[in-house]
Amino acid sequence: MRLLVTGGSGYLGSELVAHAASRGDEVFATHRVTPPDPDLDARWVCADLSDAGVVDRMVAALRPEVVVHTAYRATGPRAHLDTVEAARNVARSTANSGAALVHISSDVVFSGRETEPLAENHPLDPVSGYGRLKAEAERAVLDTHRGSAVVRTSVIYGGPDHRGPQERLVTAALADPSVVSFHTDEVRCPVYVADLARALLAVADTGATGIWHVAGPRAVDRLGLARALARSLGGDPAVLRGGPSPEPPPGGPVRPRHLHLDSSRFVARFGPLLRDPDQALGG
Ligand SMILES: NC(=O)c1ccc[n+]([C@@H]2O[C@H](COP(=O)([O-])OP(=O)(O)OC[C@H]3O[C@@H](n4cnc5c(N)ncnc54)[C@H](OP(=O)(O)O)[C@@H]3O)[C@@H](O)[C@H]2O)c1
Repeated sequence: MRLLVTGGSGYLGSELVAHAASRGDEVFATHRVTPPDPDLDARWVCADLSDAGVVDRMVAALRPEVVVHTAYRATGPRAHLDTVEAARNVARSTANSGAALVHISSDVVFSGRETEPLAENHPLDPVSGYGRLKAEAERAVLDTHRGSAVVRTSVIYGGPDHRGPQERLVTAALADPSVVSFHTDEVRCPVYVADLARALLAVADTGATGIWHVAGPRAVDRLGLARALARSLGGDPAVLRGGPSPEPPPGGPVRPRHLHLDSSRFVARFGPLLRDPDQALGG
């Protein structure tokens, strides 16, 4: 498969590049500010995806069969450009070129006010600025590229072999437990980065379209995930501190509490690719 991975310099993007290259795909990948990992077997393009002309020229030159769009920015002055406008540009160029598109979205498009598992057709009701951007990006993609797939996922972790933001946080907390309290009332379905990469390639291979929930099979609070990661990193999980999340200040940033993505539709179609932290980390 001739595959273009946007955000190839990011956590998920680099894992995706590695998996696709290892199975023999012809892989192109973008980065913007972060230098690409020289060990990854891809042809790299330095591109600002928020520039529509840049995206058009890149897609026309590379002629990918499938684009997996992971690039985004959660916060800061470029967040709308890098999350919404970049997604719209990628959707427009891929639709015009006839390429398939797999767009990565997030559980934060939901409010987290309800505790039941959330299916793909649950109404979007984001409560955070990041959640509103991801919801707007989804709508832009689905309106622009009618045959695209939108994959909503949850907190991504990788254990000792694929260290990312979760592993860095746990490593810091193991060194000094006072730096962070892991919220016991904040629940997600954490997904192992290698499982997610395989799942995204399965979606890409089959040309599946529409919205898919692709997250771990078990809802876990932040402390539960941190303790599983601590064990896998050789630390003592008992030293990690946990507790309820503080009430946000009036007008301050809000974080969704209980986000339980129901991935059963994905599992029914693609099989049991998604493991919980104990299975994935060998705990
Ligand atoms: N990480 C999680 O726990 C999690 C959970 C749920 C959903 N997701 C979703 O998964 C996807 C990937 O997340 P991640 O954690 O792997 O992200 P990440 O590590 O922060 O990487 C983001 C990537 O986006 C690129 N990027 C941002 N703006 C760009 C622009 N204008 N042009 C080109 N590239 C741009 C960055 O490139 P440069 O650094 O080179 O600028 C970087 O490669 C995102 O869509 C996110 O919403 C992540």
